[in-house]
Amino acid sequence: MKKMTAAQIRSEFLSFFQKKGHTVVPSSSLVPADDPTILFVIAGMVQFKDVFLGLEKRPYVLAATSQKCVRAGGKDSDLENVGYTARHHTFFEMLGNFSFGQYFKAEAMAYAWELLTEGYGLPASQLWATIYRDDDEAHWLWQEVAGLPARRIVRLGAKDNFWAMGETGPCGPCSEIIIDRGEHLACHEDSCAIGQCDCDRWLEIWNLVFMQYNRSADGVMTPLPRPSVDTGMGLERITSVLQGAGTNFDTDLFLPIMGMVEKISGRRYRPPGPVFPFRVIADHSRAGTFIIADGVLPSNEGRGYVLRRILRRALRYGRELGITGPFLYRLVPVVAEIMGDAYPELRRQEELVVRAIRAEEERFLETLDQGMRVALELVTRARAQGSACLDGAAAFMLYDTYGFPVDLAKDLAAEHGLQVDRDGFEAAMAAQRQRARAARKAEAGFVHQAAPWLEALPVTEFVGYQVLELDARVLALVAGSESHPALAAGEEGLAVLSQTPFYAEAGGQVSDTGHWEWPAGRARVLDVEHAAGRYLHRVQVESGTLSVGETVRAVVDGPRQAAIARNHTATHLCHWALKQVLGAHVNQAGSLVGPDRLRFDFTHFAGLTPGERVRVEEMVNAHILSDLPVQVRVMGVEQAMAEGAIALFGEKYGATVRVVGTGGTTPELCGGTHVQSTGQIGLFHIIDESSVGAGLRRIEAVTGTGLMHHLQEVEGRLEEIATALKAGSHDLIPRVTDLVRQLRESQKELEVAQDRLRAATVSGLVAGARSIGNTAVVVARVEAPDAEGLRRLGDLVREALGSGALVLGATSADRVQFLAMATPDAVRRGIHCGHVVKEAAAVAGGGGGG
Ligand code: SER
Repeated sequence: MKKMTAAQIRSEFLSFFQKKGHTVVPSSSLVPADDPTILFVIAGMVQFKDVFLGLEKRPYVLAATSQKCVRAGGKDSDLENVGYTARHHTFFEMLGNFSFGQYFKAEAMAYAWELLTEGYGLPASQLWATIYRDDDEAHWLWQEVAGLPARRIVRLGAKDNFWAMGETGPCGPCSEIIIDRGEHLACHEDSCAIGQCDCDRWLEIWNLVFMQYNRSADGVMTPLPRPSVDTGMGLERITSVLQGAGTNFDTDLFLPIMGMVEKISGRRYRPPGPVFPFRVIADHSRAGTFIIADGVLPSNEGRGYVLRRILRRALRYGRELGITGPFLYRLVPVVAEIMGDAYPELRRQEELVVRAIRAEEERFLETLDQGMRVALELVTRARAQGSACLDGAAAFMLYDTYGFPVDLAKDLAAEHGLQVDRDGFEAAMAAQRQRARAARKAEAGFVHQAAPWLEALPVTEFVGYQVLELDARVLALVAGSESHPALAAGEEGLAVLSQTPFYAEAGGQVSDTGHWEWPAGRARVLDVEHAAGRYLHRVQVESGTLSVGETVRAVVDGPRQAAIARNHTATHLCHWALKQVLGAHVNQAGSLVGPDRLRFDFTHFAGLTPGERVRVEEMVNAHILSDLPVQVRVMGVEQAMAEGAIALFGEKYGATVRVVGTGGTTPELCGGTHVQSTGQIGLFHIIDESSVGAGLRRIEAVTGTGLMHHLQEVEGRLEEIATALKAGSHDLIPRVTDLVRQLRESQKELEVAQDRLRAATVSGLVAGARSIGNTAVVVARVEAPDAEGLRRLGDLVREALGSGALVLGATSADRVQFLAMATPDAVRRGIHCGHVVKEAAAVAGGGGGG
């Protein structure tokens, strides 16, 4: 067995296959390029999925990769296992070779065998293979190609030896190469057998998949155009074997991270001791670093949520090592050091990753501390009430309000001899989901859906992409929740038309407004909403009577609609420019497109620098000034995804979608209204940029007429300032500079004058001192703005007096203040300032304030 570093093992793999005619292809991003079926790339074959399916051609038919993978979300989740087994990870690297219709089983086996036994020098006598139950071909091929004795070839069922990327997609029987690490590692259970036991004796190192089918959603398997090969070997596992390490964590891929965690925590990583927190932290720091470097930031949904769970889990285990402050971010440079040569993006993105992780840690620790206090109270109260359980609703409140993980609540409760009512917790969680769903449906106008009058109406045809006015028939009128035959002048209600040019609020774009006219009347359209495909216009009748059956001329407010369209197209350009300037992690988190301005919320961890803001504006405006056509295409959702169109996470799209794009920018799925060419936007200007939550920024911007109004307003304000300063608007800067200088000089003069005045007052007071016994005493009424001013004056008089006592009185509008002071020698002689002030105050009818 050759002793090799992980980096050598990786490069030996790639160069071995390069020599066998394979093209070495870089790892793809962890974020699948155009595959909505998975959150993260889970295997080397993901970037080649369409090549296997015959949908995409590459300039090569053989490839080898070292692919970044994450299995931490959904059904591929290894998250809860990580740290407790020797070989599970959230993030790992998969070494793989691929044949797209060229070689098949025999070569795949021969190459794997040669690399393992000769390239890596593994003893052939320790290697076994598992094959798919019915795969006789694989059975004899292993004997023929590798000389593997039949007793070390084991047939297993589909669970172990049929590989599929997911419910749908390319799949086929597979064969795994397993190394027997020796009896001493066996669990010695009766059931301990190769391929069926999870113990450390049998380690699966390489999976060879013979890709033969494409499985469709209904489970039908159609043969692929050409049988292909997809193999995967976990770098961490093969490294642990070649380095003779007890677990993946005891290799050079992880040990430097352990070293740093030791340094931070002051605890030792000593396998096989209680090492789980170390392993969890080491694994999760790699996952966090790689995921963020690929542009994902912590959030509450999708990939961002998986990332958040990973980071928070690591923090919880940090606490077990006694680390209470943020620390994960300090592991990022260590990860970048270990992996940066193979994955240069880690070095490029290091700063971003450090900042993002640190921000997430701070945020979590803050809520955790608050949660911890509340949790302690709840636990103490439950105990005092003699309960054996922290009730589910309380645990849910902790989770919901303080982001306090239920596992942590469980640990805390256990420390006090209590359990957590998990069923109650799950029930509270389910109820919350239900409420959220109901709220969302209500927001979407769903409340109207059940109304019988609405169900009786046809779905409204929206023609606003083509025309802004047309004749249409009134199909229904509703006021309150009742259907009405007519609305009289002055009345307001909801109206449904046979067709409409009015856009109903959706996708952040506000509704159109406008008016309806008919021979005997007119109504204003104030707002429009969707309900089950019907457009409900909120109308206010201005004159005449609006009746069901009437044909009205429905007219959208054109200039307002044009302003909205300008802002909507500009919103897309802004999204695109932000991604270019700030990085791929920028994602839309919400938007509001109105006639006067646009608002765009996006994921990013810090405020924009002035330079970044200017670059975003310049990129958008360059696009506007090039006057590029805006293309709107309707296509199948798969095609849109294949073209890389941006879809909003969590948004539900139908089978056909509208894709809006303009030269060079990434197209977006969008149902909104847009300008025909970018020049119509006029100009784009950011008027504000702010934070709207953790990792969320907001840009407000104006275009076209909105920008014109903004400029007029700014100009107007400038003129007002100029008038107030008695200057022309062009002389403002010299005028203001001059005024500031004058003000500073006057302040200085004032200070000098005040000092002089104070000195004169002080010497006047000291000169007027009387001697009582052998003590000099100053008693006077003075001017002082407040208690502090009086005290300062007192200090000066006492200093000038050298030895003696003083009593000063001052009046302000509503009160009298006395101050008594004495030098230390006078105090020694028996003067008690407290008594003096009390006496003086009594004369003035008040009390002594100390
Ligand atoms: N796709 C297979 C796996 O993930 C082989 O790479 O195991």
